[in-house]
Amino acid sequence: MSQNNKTPHNKNQATFILDGKTIPFTEGQTIIQAAMASGEYIPHLCFNPEFKPHGSCKICTVTANGRQAASCTQQTQADMVVESNTKPINDERRALLQMLFVEGNHFCPSCEKSGDCQLQATAYELNMMSPHFDHFSPDRPLDSSHAEYLLDYNRCILCSLCARASSDVDGKNVFSLAGRGIKTHLIVNAKSGKLADTDFTGDDKAAHVCPVGVIIKKRVGFAVPIGKRSFDEHPISATPHPKVRDV
Ligand code: FES
Repeated sequence: MSQNNKTPHNKNQATFILDGKTIPFTEGQTIIQAAMASGEYIPHLCFNPEFKPHGSCKICTVTANGRQAASCTQQTQADMVVESNTKPINDERRALLQMLFVEGNHFCPSCEKSGDCQLQATAYELNMMSPHFDHFSPDRPLDSSHAEYLLDYNRCILCSLCARASSDVDGKNVFSLAGRGIKTHLIVNAKSGKLADTDFTGDDKAAHVCPVGVIIKKRVGFAVPIGKRSFDEHPISATPHPKVRDV
């Protein structure tokens, strides 16, 4: 799953050990940031290096000096020993993925985002062969009110990246997570609850960060054929953090 260490480091730089490899880091870097800088892949979904970490999906969990921690929020320390690509940790990640799959409605073969979806690609990476748990089969309506974009809430994994992009970059607060616990869900900031009644546009950063298939640009869904998409060509582990391709 991980790649060779690509970044030669200065001998005076502080380092930690990730799966037996020496990884340099700078003060304040989290484990995943330092790993990515060295070309090492740690599975993740709610983390995107362009935004403050949210620490919610726990797919990036590692053990750091023997204790479990989310590598997107845990700061690195000198000589820390981190394990990521181990059977017990990957088993836990796979179980989290299975829960995400059954909590929503993920029909990969017919999804516009298939082949570009980080949830799907991470499931392939971690050899998820079945959903294992009973499907919740929620009944979530689509929002096709906007002229250019469709929202399919069935695929939301509550990563909050659209909300972070909208507030931190676009200054708009178009998206938010509402509710608590199992009732947590994505909403848009309009009395009607419809995207068309917000100030969302295709130029917003929030339009381009969804790691799954919730925010979908209309009329381009299958422009790139299945079989030629990002994760059809390379597994998700081939780049420490994949870029989201619009579909
Ligand atoms: Fe770290 Fe989601 S990527 S908790």
